[in-house]
Amino acid sequence: MLKHFEKELIKQSNTHPDQALKEFYSASLSFLKVNKEFKNLHKDLLKKRAEMPPKHYVNLYYRAFQYVQLFKKNNKEIYNYTRKEWAIELNSLMQESDALSVFTHLIETESTQTTIYQRYIGPKAVLRAVYSNSPIIVADIGCGLNLGLPGIELNYPFLDIRDETPGEFVTQEATSELNITDGISLDINNPKLKRKWALACGFYPKELANLPETARLCDYLWKKTKTSFVKGSILDLSKIWTRRKLPKCDAVIASTVLYQISDKDRESALAEIWEILTPGGILIINDFLAVNHKILWNVEWFGNKGKTSSYTTVVLQKEDKAFSSPYEFIKWDNGRCKVAYSGKDFKKVLELQ
Ligand SMILES: C[S@@+](CC[C@H](N)C(=O)[O-])C[C@H]1O[C@@H](n2cnc3c(N)ncnc32)[C@H](O)[C@@H]1O
Repeated sequence: MLKHFEKELIKQSNTHPDQALKEFYSASLSFLKVNKEFKNLHKDLLKKRAEMPPKHYVNLYYRAFQYVQLFKKNNKEIYNYTRKEWAIELNSLMQESDALSVFTHLIETESTQTTIYQRYIGPKAVLRAVYSNSPIIVADIGCGLNLGLPGIELNYPFLDIRDETPGEFVTQEATSELNITDGISLDINNPKLKRKWALACGFYPKELANLPETARLCDYLWKKTKTSFVKGSILDLSKIWTRRKLPKCDAVIASTVLYQISDKDRESALAEIWEILTPGGILIINDFLAVNHKILWNVEWFGNKGKTSSYTTVVLQKEDKAFSSPYEFIKWDNGRCKVAYSGKDFKKVLELQ
């Protein structure tokens, strides 16, 4: 398993879009070779998180390290760290028992909770395309910090994007209002209790200057929103909906959550979402995937320079017994969603209204 971890570190130290993160992964590779305790620690952690694909483990590993730097060591300088500076921090982690136990505990128990409000610009464009101003009930499953649905509900602005879709469709719809009569956000973690962890997960090093603004956005949206939060798993949606007498939804958003679920559980998750939709309702998936008649999940996250990534906004419609084929609506530059290209089924989604 250590071998897979090392292989993924090599890959990400070559392909990750953030320079400081590339250097972190590269420093980690060297440190694994010289520090036996560090190597044994990962061996042990990899055993405990055996269910986690190496790509996710590498991701989680950096987030836990970043949490320690930001919230235990108050180190705000990591945004442009070089390999050499990371090596010093890795070394000091292994010598500071308090920091090490926080780091270890996070890797043992947590999953990555990166929440990016900007990602919801794709789902908002879909909702506008299909429902315009009609009253709708929407759920956001795997909501993380729960910024997405409250932000859409309150018409909170998105960042400007380079919009390559016909008529700059995404940009046009991003500022238009929706009529969400009921919003339900669900996650296995309560965002109010996991705020620090989610904030530590939310940024690549070069984005860290945005952390205070996101923390303020949480306070603002949480105070203003009508969207309710429900703690629970995507795998138990129908039970939760029945127990709490929640209304069926016209649309369900699953943004960057299904990639965290095993192939077997993903089928059950989709069946659970189908149950809580109204007939003809839509599922909007934002995730790292490919569409070829069905959704393919085993894909690389980052494209080569200048190409689109695998981060895609996809729409499926609830039919009598199952979902329709997936419609590829928008292809993104990456999971930060600053450049939009129309997907191969762009027009079909506009026809769903
Ligand atoms: C990467 S975050 C995405 C947050 C937000 N949707 C976004 O796109 O910015 C993934 C979220 O999915 C949640 N999650 C993972 N497995 C889940 C499950 N079985 N049921 C509900 N939520 C889950 C995690 O707790 C985490 O908050």
